[in-house]
Amino acid sequence: MNDSHHRSPRSSVTSNTVSAWRAKLFLCLSLTASCFFPALAVAADAAATPPTGEQVYLERCAQCHEGGVPKAPHKMFLQMMATDAIHDALSTGIMQQQATGLSAAARVAVAEYLGGQSLADSQAKPEAQRCSGPAAKFDLNSPPAKAGWGMDRQNRRFVPAEIGGLAAADLPKLKLKWAFGYPKAQRARSQPLVALGAVYVGSQDGTVHALDFATGCTRWTFRASAEVRTAIQMDGWVAGTPAPARPLLYFGDLMARVYAVDALTGELVWKTKVDDHPNATVTAAPVLYDGRLYVPVSSLEVSSAGDPKYACCTFRGSIHALDAKTGATIWQSYTIPAAPSQTGTTSVGTAILGPSGAPIWNTPVLDTKRGVLYAGTGENYSSPADDRSDALLAFRLTDGKVLWARQKTSGDAWNVGCMLQNANCPKEEGPDVDFGAASILTTLPDGTDVLLAGQKSGDVYAVRPEDGSFVWHRKVGRGGIQGGVHFGMALDGNTLYVPISDMTGEEAEGTNKNKGPPRAGMHALNATTGEVLWSTLADDRCHGLQYCEPGISAAVTAIPGAVIAGHMDGRLRAYEQATGKVLWETETRQPFATVNGVAGMGGSMGGGSGPVVQQGHLLVNSGYGLYFHLPGNVLLVYAPE
Ligand code: HEC
Repeated sequence: MNDSHHRSPRSSVTSNTVSAWRAKLFLCLSLTASCFFPALAVAADAAATPPTGEQVYLERCAQCHEGGVPKAPHKMFLQMMATDAIHDALSTGIMQQQATGLSAAARVAVAEYLGGQSLADSQAKPEAQRCSGPAAKFDLNSPPAKAGWGMDRQNRRFVPAEIGGLAAADLPKLKLKWAFGYPKAQRARSQPLVALGAVYVGSQDGTVHALDFATGCTRWTFRASAEVRTAIQMDGWVAGTPAPARPLLYFGDLMARVYAVDALTGELVWKTKVDDHPNATVTAAPVLYDGRLYVPVSSLEVSSAGDPKYACCTFRGSIHALDAKTGATIWQSYTIPAAPSQTGTTSVGTAILGPSGAPIWNTPVLDTKRGVLYAGTGENYSSPADDRSDALLAFRLTDGKVLWARQKTSGDAWNVGCMLQNANCPKEEGPDVDFGAASILTTLPDGTDVLLAGQKSGDVYAVRPEDGSFVWHRKVGRGGIQGGVHFGMALDGNTLYVPISDMTGEEAEGTNKNKGPPRAGMHALNATTGEVLWSTLADDRCHGLQYCEPGISAAVTAIPGAVIAGHMDGRLRAYEQATGKVLWETETRQPFATVNGVAGMGGSMGGGSGPVVQQGHLLVNSGYGLYFHLPGNVLLVYAPE
């Protein structure tokens, strides 16, 4: 599976209505009122009995939003938007014309039906804990230390003492300083950024929060249309030199929009939709370099394919380069060179389109020396599997040209139809072993450069950045559709830390192609040779608790002498670099009193973010209520007593 959200596939109740509308709507190429509808029951009856949200949806939305019109996000996406964002789209946004003739009550009803919460709740702003006085002030002398999800451009996720202010010996002194509760959330997936004396973080309901680093009070909030689960990126500058007049933050949302927002006020500067595909999404953090933003593009089409009537599939992964000042496109380069075409028909008569898939849901690694960006891809969604799935690709920075592509697992086509055992499952049937974790670029002690990559199959590779050719390979975990290596390794000098998820449930092993005993836990490899230095397998503290797993899905973070990892059972642990011994641990699967008064609860850790260490503080998210993991909604900030 791609690492993106999916709900259970929609029922086929509406399919007849949908196909009746389809032919008509295909003739209607623009979304203007002139191609609009006869008066429908919903509009006519509005005065008498207010229609339910579902009625409005079926009569006025489903025909476009269940595959009928190109670019219209699938219902599944609309359900992941906040109620007020849907309501805004109908009242003042891009769906105004489509909502023509709908009463105010009908608009609210359909927005609430899709958004799953009341309009009033979705509009409620966390005013109670607004910062005042010095806590409200941004400190322009405190630029972001090491920008980016990967902590540096090489994605090493190693935080040196001068930035982190934490060494292994300090860990046992850590105490919880404050906790923030993400409102209306079951998961916390956006890796926080510490800069300007603030913590910037996205959240499930689409709110980006700017919090005071010292106390957690709120300086401003910004509302995107849908979940923001990428890390927040920021223009850096050298401490002591003048700050830019308007420092900008960059992030993506689940609707494949990328935003630039003023870091001091939360005002929108620009937003750009980075892909035309209705199921496209942005889940990994973009890379910011030299005035450009390089955005990895993934999709949720893997889940749409769970419907056997869905013609699977047409999405192709890409990197989209934007002008960081304006959001204008510079280039978009696809992982799969040619657009998909029909390759067959399923046993229930649905068209098969391919090749498709090869999404990018990891943060690319930047190679400024060679002018290249490297990213790993996921599986194909449909047959035939091609040579661009589960591969490492090198994109030229200037124009996006793919300089080389090296596939690690061939013949991997998979979609949610395989989980549901229906006709849309491609004949390859998996094993669904994406590169979900970002690759790391490093210079080895002997002076050679290598790219280190971890795969959901549990394999780790070192390849040459020049051409992707082989240096070494080590199988570290059993692998599964949620890893193996899921979201991110870390590197300290010649020590490569490899977190392994290896979930125990069948759903995690996927189509049972990922065989062998699980190796969930933390492993350290010699980055030059691939030799295993130590393995600390995670003990089981779940004791049969449903959705609890001992392994590590989240990206891990190294500090001098140790590596810090959030486990899927809620434990946050630090392992000693030399031995793999657990130096410190704390339980996050528990209730927390939060500074903003939201009921706080920790759960599984995973889903893209990892620990952040800065200025003597350790920040982590806890909660991953999705894909058979434990829900939670907290940002936890620890500091030594
Ligand atoms: C005629 C086809 C059509 C109909 C009918 C239609 N939509 Fe849309 N809708 C689209 C398309 C196309 C887009 C994508 C537009 C874009 O991104 O440029 C879209 C986008 C949206 C969005 C996303 C807005 C955003 O912020 O990205 C929402 C929400 C939405 N529609 C809700 C609805 C609802 C609710 C209804 C029924 C009341 C509806 N739509 C009816 C075609 C339609």
